[in-house]
Amino acid sequence: MEKRVAVLQGDGIGPEVTEAAVRVLEVVARRFNHNFHFNYGSIGGAAIDEFNHPLPEETIALCESSDAILLGAVGGPKWDQNPSELRPEKGLLAIRKHFDLFANLRPVKAVPSLLHASPLKEEVVQAVDMMIVRELTGGLYFGEPSRKTDKAAVDTLVYTREEIERIVEKAFELARLRRGKVTSVDKANVLESSKLWREIVDEKRKSYPDIEVEHQLVDSAAMKLITNPGAFDVIVTENMFGDILSDEASVITGSLGLLPSASVRSDGFGLYEPVHGSAPDVAGKGIANPAATILSTAMMLRYSFGLETEAATIEKAIDTVFEDGHYTADLSGGSDRVLSTKEWTDKVIEELDLQSVSN
Ligand code: NAD
Ligand code: IPM
Ligand code: MN
Repeated sequence: MEKRVAVLQGDGIGPEVTEAAVRVLEVVARRFNHNFHFNYGSIGGAAIDEFNHPLPEETIALCESSDAILLGAVGGPKWDQNPSELRPEKGLLAIRKHFDLFANLRPVKAVPSLLHASPLKEEVVQAVDMMIVRELTGGLYFGEPSRKTDKAAVDTLVYTREEIERIVEKAFELARLRRGKVTSVDKANVLESSKLWREIVDEKRKSYPDIEVEHQLVDSAAMKLITNPGAFDVIVTENMFGDILSDEASVITGSLGLLPSASVRSDGFGLYEPVHGSAPDVAGKGIANPAATILSTAMMLRYSFGLETEAATIEKAIDTVFEDGHYTADLSGGSDRVLSTKEWTDKVIEELDLQSVSN
């Protein structure tokens, strides 16, 4: 298979974790006789520095001529005081909107050999296998008006029926391939947008009689995510609730550095990015956990390229590396056997090579 991947490294640990992911993809390509072409583009703070724009035209053109996008992370203190239009985060929002990547899939699954890394009890963590389906191109992030003066500031939470319908359908379809349960998270006791959201979930469920549906208010959902996370299968929710709940869910697995994501539209085109940010506190030290980004490339292979075996091969290699007790600093719990980003990626690559010899 011949594929073009646009690589947008971004800021902070973005270049470190995408480099690791590209190395792994290169090994997978060699082993399974694929040709992946990696072309690099600029986004976020790096793009502001170089092009005075967080998402330059060149980058959009590169992505348009690619089969998928791999993104590191954007943002950092250097740009935090910039005007809104010149913030790195604007580049990320703009690329999601430009490509209509309305469905952000954020799987959260317990890794059996990492149960000890979670601050939660092992028996609470072990049953966890959920998919957070976050609406990504609507809601508070994009509603107008959105502005601020010294006296007042406004953001607008608006959702159209079509925007809600397509994300809810996506959640039902995913639930069918999983354990058949959808939890819709909203704030329908207060917000009008949530009332429409809940109505649409109730309409759509009629077409999916095989799916168990529950509504959960976001505040208590945040609590249940920690007390009984194993009870969730698919969670579907609006943009900002999904942002917050997914970082919360990362605590269950032990590190934000473990959570991958896919931001996709209906035709399968997608942008693949870790859930975490640019981690300025560890950037440049070579110690970031690249697992989330490597696992995001597995999602790319699965969802955009239909390469299930290759995707599962990456996931298995990562599981084995954890089983063998190799960790980056975020997961080490103070042990001396801490590997750098590069050393840990080397272990994943060694494992992929070993598997290919034994096959
Ligand atoms: P963050 O996710 O960057 O970091 C939160 C904490 O988790 C930090 O202590 C960090 O060191 C740690 N962490 C995150 N990923 C890690 C990894 N792979 N390995 C080891 N440790 C990791 O969140 P933040 O500090 O709130 O935000 C920093 C910047 O990132 C901000 O500018 C924010 O806007 C941006 N951000 C970008 C994205 C994105 O590009 N998708 C996502 C979230 C935040
Ligand atoms: C994420 C990030 C982004 C978001 C920011 C950086 C705009 O937190 O991808 O989770 O809120 O969507
Ligand atoms: Mn986030």
